[in-house]
Amino acid sequence: MSLTFSPVSTDDLETIAGLVQAVSWPHRPEDIDLMIRLGGGRLVHDANDGQVLGVGLYWTFGDALARIGLIIVSPESQGRGIGRKLVTRLLEDAGPRPVVLLATDAGRPLYESLGFKAFDTSRQYQGIYADTPGKDPRIRPGVFNDIAGISDLDAAAFGARREHALESLAAASDVSVLTENGTITGYGFARAFGRGTVIGPIVSANEADAIALFSALARPGFVRVDCPGNAAALIRHLTGSGLEDVGTSPVMARGDWTAPAAPHRIYGLASHALG
Ligand SMILES: CC(C)(COP(=O)(O)OP(=O)(O)OC[C@H]1O[C@@H](n2cnc3c(N)ncnc32)[C@H](O)[C@@H]1OP(=O)(O)O)[C@@H](O)C(=O)NCCC(=O)NCCS
Repeated sequence: MSLTFSPVSTDDLETIAGLVQAVSWPHRPEDIDLMIRLGGGRLVHDANDGQVLGVGLYWTFGDALARIGLIIVSPESQGRGIGRKLVTRLLEDAGPRPVVLLATDAGRPLYESLGFKAFDTSRQYQGIYADTPGKDPRIRPGVFNDIAGISDLDAAAFGARREHALESLAAASDVSVLTENGTITGYGFARAFGRGTVIGPIVSANEADAIALFSALARPGFVRVDCPGNAAALIRHLTGSGLEDVGTSPVMARGDWTAPAAPHRIYGLASHALG
């Protein structure tokens, strides 16, 4: 089959939302819109009749890193080599940067065959949260001027600077910062996403601080957190708060990528796609 790959824009929102719905992912149109505005992407068309067969997005962070995500081939067109051509095209778009992604079970074999290697796992917890907000004297609501300190901290945990993405996410989020001796040593965002609220990013120097940030931000209702698979204390806290384990995803990298070293770590993802 002959394929064309057109650049994605926000005009494609409805088409992409249709593909997301076809694979039963939870993203609302607003969630997809933000993802498109922060990066680039490709719609795959059948070159003969123009029919849309799939979508994939990418985000670049300077020369240091790219991520790819929201990769979907419409269910009736899967298994015909379209996903492989789409991901190959997105890797060209990402240029020479190392590329990181979170894989689904369906995507993993494809990514492995394109040279991605798993270096971590991410576990998704979600459910109805019923506790009242926790109080930690080191945590306060974030203000506009905190974004520089948040970005510096985030870069140490994410492995690349992403001010623009953080500013856009913050505009749609409740923000908490954890300060010690006047310096921001942890932060968390909570925003509407999918079926309820996602708490992420959460970045801190240890799991106890991640738990404190989660507790400051979580409100009664549907809550989701995507945390490192080995964050045992945080996971105990999430499950003790009524959230359930709904699956583990490998975090994979391709190219010259070294995962950032401790102490600061991402304890909650903004989303599978954005990290
Ligand atoms: C993952 C996905 C994009 C792959 O697209 P596709 O067009 O079906 O993939 P291709 O036909 O190009 O197949 C690529 C390789 O993956 C393998 N593969 C495809 N689907 C698979 C599945 N469900 N389980 C195991 N392997 C699979 C194929 O064997 C193929 O390997 P080969 O080229 O060596 O034969 C598609 O299945 C999809 O949209 N799934 C739902 C959404 C999703 O999970 N996206 C991935 C997000 S990380």
